[in-house]
Order: sequence, then C-alpha cells, then structure tokens
Amino acid sequence: MAQRFDPPQNFSGNAHIKSLDEYRSVYERSVADPEAYWAEIAEQFHWHEKWTDVKKWNEPWVEWFVGAKTNIAYNCLDRFLGTPTQNKAAIVFEGEPGDTQTLTYLQLHREVCKFANALKNLGLEKGDRVAIYMPMIPELAIALLACARIGATHSVIFGGFSAEAIRDRVNDAECKAVLTADGGWRRGRVIELKKAVDEALADNACPTIERVVVFKRCGNEIEWNDEVDVWWSDAVADASADCPAEPLDAQHPLFILYTSGSTGKPKGVLHALGGYMVYAAHTTKYVFDLKDEDVYWCTADIGWITGHSYIVYGPLANGATALMFEGAPNYPDWGRFWDIVERHRVSIFYTAPTAIRAFLKQGDDYPNRHDLSSLRLLGTVGEPINPEAWLWYHRVIGKERCPIVDTWWQTETGGIMITPLPGAVTTKPGSATLPFFGIEPAIVDEKGEAVPQGEQGLLVVQHPWPGMMRTIYGDPDRFRESYWETVPHAYFAGDGAMQDEDGYFWILGRVDDVVNISGHRLGTAEIEHALVGHPSVAESAVIGTPDEITGEALVCFVTLIGGIEKSDALKDEIVDQVAKEIGRFARPKTVRFTDALPKTRSGKIMRRLLRKVAANDPSLGNIDTLEDISVLAQLQAEDE
Ligand code: PRX
Repeated sequence: MAQRFDPPQNFSGNAHIKSLDEYRSVYERSVADPEAYWAEIAEQFHWHEKWTDVKKWNEPWVEWFVGAKTNIAYNCLDRFLGTPTQNKAAIVFEGEPGDTQTLTYLQLHREVCKFANALKNLGLEKGDRVAIYMPMIPELAIALLACARIGATHSVIFGGFSAEAIRDRVNDAECKAVLTADGGWRRGRVIELKKAVDEALADNACPTIERVVVFKRCGNEIEWNDEVDVWWSDAVADASADCPAEPLDAQHPLFILYTSGSTGKPKGVLHALGGYMVYAAHTTKYVFDLKDEDVYWCTADIGWITGHSYIVYGPLANGATALMFEGAPNYPDWGRFWDIVERHRVSIFYTAPTAIRAFLKQGDDYPNRHDLSSLRLLGTVGEPINPEAWLWYHRVIGKERCPIVDTWWQTETGGIMITPLPGAVTTKPGSATLPFFGIEPAIVDEKGEAVPQGEQGLLVVQHPWPGMMRTIYGDPDRFRESYWETVPHAYFAGDGAMQDEDGYFWILGRVDDVVNISGHRLGTAEIEHALVGHPSVAESAVIGTPDEITGEALVCFVTLIGGIEKSDALKDEIVDQVAKEIGRFARPKTVRFTDALPKTRSGKIMRRLLRKVAANDPSLGNIDTLEDISVLAQLQAEDE
C-alpha cells in the first residue's frame, strides 16, 4: 500500500482549488464541454481578434481559437503595462560567477522591444525560423520573446548539443539566423557556444543562415566573420524601444523544439501560438497554485520544453516572478540551490528527480545549512520519481509542510497533463495522480481497448487539448504515424502506465526505444547512428539500464570492423564520438565490445536480450527467434 499525503490544511485553504470535490467538479465541466471551458479560460488573455470557433478537429489535425489573432509577447509583457505588475520583477537572474540581475516587467518589455526591432533591422520577419543557442541568461528569454513578438518561429537548441546537432537542427528548419553568445559559464569554466556555431556553419554547411547574433557573456576569444556575425550590443544600440506586437493568427507556428523518437533523426515538434499560450499559462497557474507574491523557480534549461513552458511563457503570462539560473547544482558546492532559495525567498521550486537523487546522496547537511522556510510548494518533472527520493524531498526540503506535484507531460504535450493539484489531491509518492483539467488519459492495449485497473498498458490521451503539438515540422506523415496510429484514434505518448484503485496514474517509463538519462530524452537509434560514425565501429545496439542517480544510463554494444583490436582507449574514443555527434550530456556510461549482436532471423536486434545481459539476468525468456544462439553465450561471458 502506497503511503498517502493529504494536502496541508493551511495550503488548501488559500489554494486556487481547495478540495478534491472542487477539482472534480471543474474537471467534469472541462471534459463535458471542452470548448466552453477553454473559451472561458482564453477570455482572460488579450486577443487582437476573437475566434470564430474554439476548436476544429480533423484527426490528427487540430486548430484552437480558429480565426483569432494574438501575440504571446503581448500577453507576457504589454498586458501588464500600466498595472502594478509593471514594476514587479519578471525575471530574477542568478549567474554562476555570482552576478545577479533583476528585470521588471517594464524593463523586460523594453529589452524585448529593442531586440525585436534589432531582429527586424537584420532582415528577419514573420514566418522566418530562428535558431537560438544560448546560455541560461536573461537574454535567452529576451530572444524567445522578441522572436514571438515579430512572428519569427524560434527553435531553441540546448546549449549542451554539439556542432553536428546544431547543424542538423538548423538545416531541418531552414533557419535564417542563429542567436548565440560567445560562451556560457558552467562550474567556473566557459562553454564555448560561438565556437560550436562556427563549426556547425563551416564550409557553408548551413546555407540558409544569413546572420549570427552574438551576445558577449564571457569575453572569451572567438573567431569573427564580418559577413555573418553581428554583436548583440551593436544590433540593439540604435534599435528603437517602440515595437508593437505583431497580431498573429492563433495557428501561427510559435516554436519548433527537437526531441528524440524511437526511430530516425530527432523530430521538430511544432507548437502553435494560441492553444499553446492558453495551455501553458493555465497549467502554470493551477498546478503551481501561483499567487502574485510567489517567487517561482524552475531549474530546467530553456533548451528543453520545461524551460519554454515553465520558465518563460507560463510564468510571464501570469505576471509572476520567475528565477533563472545559469550554472550547475553542485558548484561551488552542493548547497548552491538551497543558498539561492534562501537569498531569493523562493516559494515554488520545480526540479527533476535526477537532481533530487543527487542531493539525497550528498546528505541532509547542505539543505539544513539554509533557511528554506520560504518554500511552500515543490514539483518534479522529467522522469518517474522513486518513492525514496520523493520522501527525502518531502522531509528534508519541504519540511513535511510543502505539497509535491509530480507532473507528467512531454515536449509534444506543451504543458503538464497528469499532476496533483496541490491544494486538492492527496499524493502518493511515485504517482503523478490525476489528469489536469480538460485532459482525458487512458490506459489501453495496442488495439485501443482499456486494460483492467491495476494492469500495465499504454498511456494515451483520447481527445485533443490546446497545448497539443500541431505537427512535426516538415513531416506531417511522421506526426500521424508516430502519435495517432499506434493506438487507433488516440494520442499515444510512448509511455507505459497503470491506474490504481483510486484512479491514480503511475507512469512506468517509455515503452519505445527512447531512454531517459537525467531527464534528458534520447533515442537509441540516434546514439547508434552516432556510434557507427566512428571508423572502427561496424554495428551497434544501444539500450538503457537502470541507474541510481541518472534514472537510466546508456549501455552500448558494439561490434568492430574486422581486424580492429579491442582496447580501453578505443572505448573512450567511441564514447567521445557520441559527445561529438550529439553532445556531452549523451555520453554512454558503458561500451561493450562483442563479436556479434543477437538478432532475430529477420535481422532485428533483440534489445530485450541485451537488457537482460546488461542486467546480468540469466532468465532470457523466449529465444526461439534468435538467429544464432552462440552470440548470446558469448555476450554473457563477456566482461564489461
Ligand atoms: O517518459 C516520460 C518522461 O519524460 C518523457 C517526456 O520527455 P520530454 O519530452 O523531454 O519532456 C520532459 C519534460 C516534460 C515522457 O514521455 N516523464 C516526464 N515527466 C514524467 C515522466 N515520467 C514519469 N513521471 C513524470 N512526472
């Protein structure tokens, strides 16, 4: 029996949603008449023109707020001008070398307008795609909002990605410009961002790029190409601070964000303006029970969807104060986060299970040295949280007084889908609990039939919601096939899950060939592709194995080209190959050499068996289809 934690009474008393009954009654209304529900929520925002229809649905294509015009930068900034919010902190920045900076709504508005005009002066316009490869500094948020203001579709590339990964993403979306910085700080070291952009663009490898805008952050030496490069400071120097927000169609592509799938190259998940805006803002308000006086901190990077929805767009569209952090949780020491919570009086804290597990391992002293009394709500995202980590978070960080919201969602969903509402829902460590308003998840088998309560199945969502991705950029067929055809007439998330006797959802992890390392999503096919790029590698198969800190870790089985000697030095080179092709964060934990890979007679690699080999599990299940049984004996005999 899972332990249960009721919402603390003093929390519920002040919460937006105060009880399970209240949650249920709003939920029932939201699914009984979704159009009426979402129209009512959308009314709270600014629309240059109102919609004619709330929703148009032609599976798998959806439009929300049909015919409406709006601008998300207007809703995050201009809407608050002339109200008391204009002088409130919009972004509180904590930089690694100790610098802090605060931008009020008024100041942020001015910076966004100036940079938006700078972009226009550089020839960028509505409909262009702009890649953003920047450190976690306020200018990154300014870059997103400036693109959104003029109607340029942004494609943020996480600063940990390599030059090769930048090149693939820039070319797939045919970006016209890259916004970057000379460098970013991490553990006292400079991450050379401009250098990676230069490498990506070398030899005219990204022919659509006309401009590279460079923010000076670290002052590290960089190469300069006068024809393309322009300093951010020069671009804004003469730019006017008057830049009216462009009225954009609600279906306008707000951003593309690449994420890994089970096959092929990463997918450009495309989100459309109106629906995404309403969903990101609405979930932020209710899941985090956001109040005017909160200081809200999400520790994600803006390079991932969590940062898009819950650092930039969601909090700002609610007029909240959001903290932004550049750096690492363990630099200068493991007390870094708790020091920030204490100094900035953070009240809502949202992080990943992998971080919690790493903190837990360091013991209670680091958090106990700090005053964490400002905290009132904690959240987690990105991977299943093990009960031990949940309970530590609850006891040592939340002092048994802060509710925890375990939020399940994805790049594709735009916003949080399954989560407790903190004032209303009793939590159980390890369960994301109940669906958010308007969301109808179910657990089914591959035919779409419901599986009995308590049994594992596939997690699907049965109706479209406003935050749902619209398509895969440039590949609508892949969108339909990946998400709407595995299970008939439902959005298939790629996760396995089960529902318990209270209807609570327990997310069990991916059922496809996607692994989750420290909350970072990677496709095994992508890693395999990177591995065979090494001149000594003939073939490879990659799996995820459980890891105490990172959740899962990558284990790579590799066969070498005939005549090549196995060596530890070669293993290191192969690990580096993945760092080069994708990024350092994707480096495999283990490389294992083998003379052959276990395959079915039709040539499919039997990953199921590799998982067992990696786990030293002798029970191999049904191996009737294995082509050459000796392969397996050899693998099991191999030392790591
Ligand atoms: O497997 C699920 C896991 O993360 C995947 C989505 O990854 P990504 O698109 O990178 O977005 C991460 C942040 C929203 C999901 O398919 N996941 C996310 N949140 C949870 C989770 N697994 C279990 N519990 C969660 N709370």
